[in-house]
Amino acid sequence: MSFLYKADPARGAVWARLFAQRAPETEFRLWPDVGDAREVRYLAAWKPPEDLNALLPNVEVVFSTGAGIDQFDLSRVPDHIPVVRMVEPGIVEGMVEYVTQAVLSIHRDIFAYAHQQTMRQWTELAVMPASERRVGVLGLGMLGQAVLSRLKAFGFDCAGWSRTPRHVDGVAGYAGYESLDAFLARTDVLVCLLPLTSATRGILDKRLLGGLPRGAWLINVGRGPHLNQYALMALLDSGHLSGAILDVTDPEPLPPSHPLWAHPKVRITPHIASATRPETAVEVVLENLRRHRAGLTMIGQIDRTQGY
Ligand code: GLV
Repeated sequence: MSFLYKADPARGAVWARLFAQRAPETEFRLWPDVGDAREVRYLAAWKPPEDLNALLPNVEVVFSTGAGIDQFDLSRVPDHIPVVRMVEPGIVEGMVEYVTQAVLSIHRDIFAYAHQQTMRQWTELAVMPASERRVGVLGLGMLGQAVLSRLKAFGFDCAGWSRTPRHVDGVAGYAGYESLDAFLARTDVLVCLLPLTSATRGILDKRLLGGLPRGAWLINVGRGPHLNQYALMALLDSGHLSGAILDVTDPEPLPPSHPLWAHPKVRITPHIASATRPETAVEVVLENLRRHRAGLTMIGQIDRTQGY
C-alpha cells in the first residue's frame, strides 16, 4: 500500500521523513517517482494530476496538501473517491497569528505611523479601546472560529458570518445572505476566511465592501478571486475604505505592473499567512487513514455538492 505525495518537493522530503518515523508500514512515494502506479492507494497533492483516473487507477482517497480545495478540478476526481482538505492545528495556528498581527496593526495605527516616519513626523494618534473596534470574520470554519476566539481575548467586539449558523463563544453570529448587510454595517475590520466556491467567487465586490461603514478595513486571507480588486481600489480612492491587507491576490504572483502593488492604502504579503505544517499535518493524515480503513468520515472530508 502506497501513499503518493505530489506538491512542493522540499516539503515532500519532510513528509517522507515523518512517514518513515510514524508510519513505516506505509510506503511513501514522492512525485514524479510514482513507481508501480497500481499500488498507490492514497494521493496527497496541491493539484492532482489531470489524468488521475488513468494514472492512478486504484487511488482510494485524495488529500489536498492545503486548507483550500479550489485549486482542484473535482470533475477529474471520480465521484466514489473521497476528497479531504487539510484541517490541521499548524495551519490554524499560522492563520491566527497572521490575522491577529493584521488586526492589531490596524487597531494600533501601525500603517499611519509608518507613513509618519517617512516624514520624520512625531505625532500621537488617539488609541481606541479594543472593545470599540468591531471586527467581523466572513467564514466560520475551523480557521474563522480560531481567529475569532483569539481576537475576542484581546477584547475586540467580534462577529462572524457564515452561510449556515455556527456558534463561537462570545461572538455575535450572523447566518445566511439575508443577514449579510447587518453584519457588514457593524464591521470596522472585515476578515475574509471563506472557501472559494462558485457562490463566493467575487463576493468582495463594490456592493459588499460598500456596505461596510466609512473608514473600514479589509483583510483578505481567503483567496484572491474572492475580491474584485478594482472595486477595492475605487473604494479606497473615494475614502470609503481606509486600507486593505491582502495576503492573496488574483493572479498570484501579482505581476510587477499591477496597480495594487503601488496603492498607498494596500499592504501585500505573498500568500504566506499560513501553510500546512508537515509535523502536525502528518498526525491528521495518519488518523484519516485509520478512519478511512474503518469506514468512518475523515477530518476535512469535503461535501462535493458544496465544493468545500
Ligand atoms: C493555503 O492557502 C492553503 O490552502 O493551505
